[in-house]
Amino acid sequence: MAFTGKVALVTGGGSGMGQTAARMLAEQGAKVAIFDVNEAGMAETAEGLPNVTAYAVDISDTDAVHAAVARVESELGPIDRVANAAAIMPFGKLLEQDPKVQLKLMAINYGGLVNIATATLPGMVARGQGDFISFSSMSGIIPGLLMGGYCATKGAVQMYTEILYHENRDSGVRFCCVCPPPVATPLWKQAKDTVVPKLTDASEAIAPAEVIEDVERCLDSGKFLSFPGKQTRMGYIMRRLFPNYLWNYSHKAEGF
Ligand SMILES: NC(=O)c1ccc[n+]([C@@H]2O[C@H](COP(=O)([O-])OP(=O)(O)OC[C@H]3O[C@@H](n4cnc5c(N)ncnc54)[C@H](O)[C@@H]3O)[C@@H](O)[C@H]2O)c1
Repeated sequence: MAFTGKVALVTGGGSGMGQTAARMLAEQGAKVAIFDVNEAGMAETAEGLPNVTAYAVDISDTDAVHAAVARVESELGPIDRVANAAAIMPFGKLLEQDPKVQLKLMAINYGGLVNIATATLPGMVARGQGDFISFSSMSGIIPGLLMGGYCATKGAVQMYTEILYHENRDSGVRFCCVCPPPVATPLWKQAKDTVVPKLTDASEAIAPAEVIEDVERCLDSGKFLSFPGKQTRMGYIMRRLFPNYLWNYSHKAEGF
């Protein structure tokens, strides 16, 4: 099996794409550590898979993440694969959304990445191997009305990961930054509890497995950016070439 004997760390492993990635890696023989604050979700991920170990960790807590990574390496072995999927996604108009919520978004979605990268990558780079996967989003590429707090975190994730990749491109570590369109996971409940931009509500959500499979293809073919789903890469090109067209479309859809 492809991952037999390897050690993987998946954050957000208690739900959605993190859960799908963790179970896929475990089914292929990896020893998988999952970090999440959702303990019930982590128990569900580990069900029937004795090689999945759950760690209750808040990824925005630097000391807790560094201590938990050290624990994983002493209990399971040096980490070969990191997938940083944990995130939150409350939406709202920037001047109406609580600034504390906007800063919490940054602490988890971006700060979590900083914590995970600095805890895991020095060892992977020193060993000259491993895979590092960041979860950005099409929302990190195409800005959207009513989703500014979240978009800002996903733009930061993409920029940070791109620089990490280039600073370590000869290290032997493979990097992938995945930019999914809407995916059918529980994350959308948070948006629905706040406000749903009309544009995202209209798009059909793809399955989590489609995202995870595209990440594997990108790692194997040496592509840094992964664009799962139809039309996603086109969205990236449109943003580069015709940003005003996308903004006009967005204003028309939301009606302001
Ligand atoms: N679902 C989508 O439409 C979509 C689209 C593009 C990108 N993404 C990104 O993909 C990744 C996975 O999203 P998902 O849809 O699977 O989400 P999800 O909500 O299903 O899972 C996210 C997990 O992160 C955990 N988490 C939240 N805060 C945490 C914290 N402080 N510490 C530890 N764990 C924490 C949650 O408990 C949850 O289990 C996220 O980074 C998300 O931004 C999602």
